[in-house]
Amino acid sequence: MVALRSTEEAFSILEGILGEVRQTRRAPDWERYAKIYDLSVGELITYQALITNVLSKVDIRPGMVVVDAATGTANLIQELIGIEHDLVVHGFENAPGMLEIARDKFSGFGTGNIHIHDADLTQPDWVERVGDGIADLFISVNTVYTLPDPLAFFRGARRVLKHGAPFVMSDPTTTVLAPIMVQHLAAGGEFTPVMREMVEINLDIKAWAERGRSDDDEEGFDFHSTGVKITLLEQAGFGVDTFESDYAGVNTTIVAYAV
Ligand SMILES: C[S@@+](CC[C@H](N)C(=O)[O-])C[C@H]1O[C@@H](n2cnc3c(N)ncnc32)[C@H](O)[C@@H]1O
Repeated sequence: MVALRSTEEAFSILEGILGEVRQTRRAPDWERYAKIYDLSVGELITYQALITNVLSKVDIRPGMVVVDAATGTANLIQELIGIEHDLVVHGFENAPGMLEIARDKFSGFGTGNIHIHDADLTQPDWVERVGDGIADLFISVNTVYTLPDPLAFFRGARRVLKHGAPFVMSDPTTTVLAPIMVQHLAAGGEFTPVMREMVEINLDIKAWAERGRSDDDEEGFDFHSTGVKITLLEQAGFGVDTFESDYAGVNTTIVAYAV
């Protein structure tokens, strides 16, 4: 582990790691990510701040039905039920490794109110697992950029939400990872070996994003601008309330309401 003393030192270490891992770029793989996900983001101060900020955007009240998509290893759901235990929560995810970790976290929870669905968000039937007009809140963190058709996803979110209910999303508008790491290190965090792996996987993601996605190619990621996301949300039946820079300037967090 490396204890950091200055931002310059952070930049120099990060540059060294990026130089090393550029040699070994592989295709992004959420299964590969699942194995190290909590060991890396669990320690990442900027990621914890992101989750806290997203949850601060809405009132969480007892009895609410909340959807989190895609849920990954369910870190957001853990934080959410720490704020309010009496919720019905639906998490959606399709990577087996992520699902296993997410489900393990709630195996002793006991109320049966946490549902971690194995479902592909690119297929319309995920909506039926919740039902039309059922949810009081929809949250999506670091997911929209991975989906080939954000408008279809937003339409699904609009369907499951009650009229007037909030939708909070935070998603990158850039592939640049360095500010997240530098802010983490500047805040007193350390660069652990598993974070090197995370940096490597994120370089794969950057490579895929740069490669783009064509109509006959399901691979790749699309980093849409905030303006495009707002337009698509409006087309899907949302009124956008606020948007702000988040996650060391890498993400935009958008709060919208189902109209
Ligand atoms: C960067 S992770 C974010 C996870 C979580 N929201 C968080 O903030 O920790 C993106 C997640 O989207 C999931 N994902 C990607 N495409 C998906 C799809 N078509 N259906 C369901 N989940 C998907 C991946 O498996 C991964 O767990």
